[in-house]
Amino acid sequence: MGQFKKFIRVAAVALIAASTGASASAKTVEVDANSFKCMAEMEKVRHFFVDNLLGDLDATLAVARSKKGGVYPAGSVVQLVPTEVMVKREAGWSPRTQDWEFFEIDVSATGSEIRVRGTDKAVNKFGGNCLECHERARPKWDMICEKGHGCLPIPVSRKQIAMLQQADPRCGAAAKAK
Ligand code: HEC
Repeated sequence: MGQFKKFIRVAAVALIAASTGASASAKTVEVDANSFKCMAEMEKVRHFFVDNLLGDLDATLAVARSKKGGVYPAGSVVQLVPTEVMVKREAGWSPRTQDWEFFEIDVSATGSEIRVRGTDKAVNKFGGNCLECHERARPKWDMICEKGHGCLPIPVSRKQIAMLQQADPRCGAAAKAK
């Protein structure tokens, strides 16, 4: 092999190593009240909405749309209703919840406020522990419940869910002007 070809090959391997190293050393996923937005500004998948705080929306959409499931990439935001959110933190952040952080938020025309956040102790306003329901999803679904994934059911119909989605107060003119 010519020296030049050899050089190219070594350089290519080094580049690949450097780039995978960069993604493996995983950017931290910072989440504060400003991380959340009007649901209509997120990407709709079937009946729920997704986003990605690290700008990797395509990777999030690929898993969300997959019929085979998969592991959501770091930065993924998943919402069914305006006030409950799951965010995928960096790899290794919380093995117990497969790196998901659960949020219960208050929403109004001026934006979002975090009421509850956490892993295995996060509860919704009805006292329901997020993880206890979501961890029952079969492994390939990465704790995403939908219907038929094995979670404990919620007493809210898809029709009621659609109404809650449309009533997101953050999507008003005031929120958009911000
Ligand atoms: C009683 C069980 C239960 C509890 C408690 C619960 N969930 Fe869920 N959650 C579900 C079910 C079932 C669905 C799917 C409903 C559907 O698609 O019709 C769901 C859907 C979701 C979704 C949309 C993605 C998905 O899994 O389908 C998010 C995000 C979510 N829940 C977040 C939370 C958060 C955050 C909490 C706690 C603050 C919480 N949930 C508490 C059962 C629960």
